[in-house]
Amino acid sequence: MTKQKILITGGAGFIGSHVVRLFVNNYSEYEIYNLDKLTYAGNLENLKDVESKSNYHFVKGDIVDAGFVNTLFAEHDFDGVIHLAAESHVDRSIESPMDFVMTNVVGTVNLLNAAKHSWKKTAAGKRFYHVSTDEVYGSLHEGGFFLETTPYDPQSPYSASKAGSDHFVRAYRNTYKLPVVISNCSNNYGPNQFPEKLIPLFINNIRNKKPLPVYGKGENVRDWLYVIDHARAIDVVYHKGKEGETYNIGGFNEWKNIDLIKVICRAMDKKLGRAIGESEQLITYVTDRAGHDLRYAIDANKIMNELGWKPSLQFEEGIEKTIDWYLANQQWLDDVTSGNYLRYYESMYANR
Ligand code: NAD
Ligand code: DAU
Repeated sequence: MTKQKILITGGAGFIGSHVVRLFVNNYSEYEIYNLDKLTYAGNLENLKDVESKSNYHFVKGDIVDAGFVNTLFAEHDFDGVIHLAAESHVDRSIESPMDFVMTNVVGTVNLLNAAKHSWKKTAAGKRFYHVSTDEVYGSLHEGGFFLETTPYDPQSPYSASKAGSDHFVRAYRNTYKLPVVISNCSNNYGPNQFPEKLIPLFINNIRNKKPLPVYGKGENVRDWLYVIDHARAIDVVYHKGKEGETYNIGGFNEWKNIDLIKVICRAMDKKLGRAIGESEQLITYVTDRAGHDLRYAIDANKIMNELGWKPSLQFEEGIEKTIDWYLANQQWLDDVTSGNYLRYYESMYANR
């Protein structure tokens, strides 16, 4: 394997931390630079086990700051970029769309400009990998899957901002010949996910005997993939994906929200020694999310057939491992929900 200097953005977040760990551990000859602003969703605790490795480097910074991004690229001759940094929560995008425009669109364009400038003599052997979401394709009814060729039809400010960033990535390839690759993945679950997203929020609420707010009738369908399988797919796409191509990533694992929630309730009852059915009593139907997409379902045949990737875990095993991780890491949950870690970063980085 040749030496490479790779910039991973958003590496302190949920998926990014698993990608950073995989690259740092599996490619000791690579230099991995993790660029992260450390928003509420970024947590360096997620990377404690790799922070002292000699091929890992952390850079605190904001991709919206073009001057900072350009200087970083001028200082480091990056061979590749794996871009995950984003505002990622649909509910927050409904409250504050502009934060999503800034990070997801402007931040992505800043990175594209910096890569274009840095690789202007030759882009041979370089790669800009943009990590995106299945939500850009919109909402499905019963039947059918999202293919790589499905027309974009984003329905929330979050998915519109991700769709915008995907369009810019393709436009930079078409206009400036920037070597790019894109993947669009379904819902991830697993360790280190911020407890604002369905699965960790509900695990945390069950543990604390708090209500479980189910949007609408709980009939929306999501297609769940274990986060480490997404990280493995990102590894495969980065190394083997064809320049200019898009790959859909998913586990062919659709669940109606309410059915998934009941699985979690029953598993938690068993693990916490509660009477079976106790946690289901916490289910509370609440006002639906505005513009709530009904169903996502990814057809992942292209990445499976062309690049040989497939999920390593069945959902039953993945959800068990996930619940076990949160129960074994209750301090992590308490810290991120209490904001202790944000105070820690403020004091650590205030004068840097
Ligand atoms: P996350 O919210 O857990 O993490 C995002 C990370 O980006 C955080 O560490 C945060 O500090 C950092 N960040 C945010 N704004 C930044 C900025 N302006 N500059 C630098 N860093 C910044 O997100 P996630 O769930 O890990 O998602 C990662 C990527 O994968 C996103 O691009 C998301 O759209 C995409 N994705 C997520 C899922 C999912 O189910 N979570 C599925 C498909 C695709
Ligand atoms: O499909 C990929 C996307 O999956 C990613 O691009 C996003 O970054 C990620 O956040 C996720 O988006 P969702 O909106 O599908 O995830 P969330 O966990 O917020 O919600 C999952 C489903 O559960 C959705 O139908 C809304 C519902 N829900 C969610 C929350 C937080 C509830 O019913 N109650 C809740 O409290």
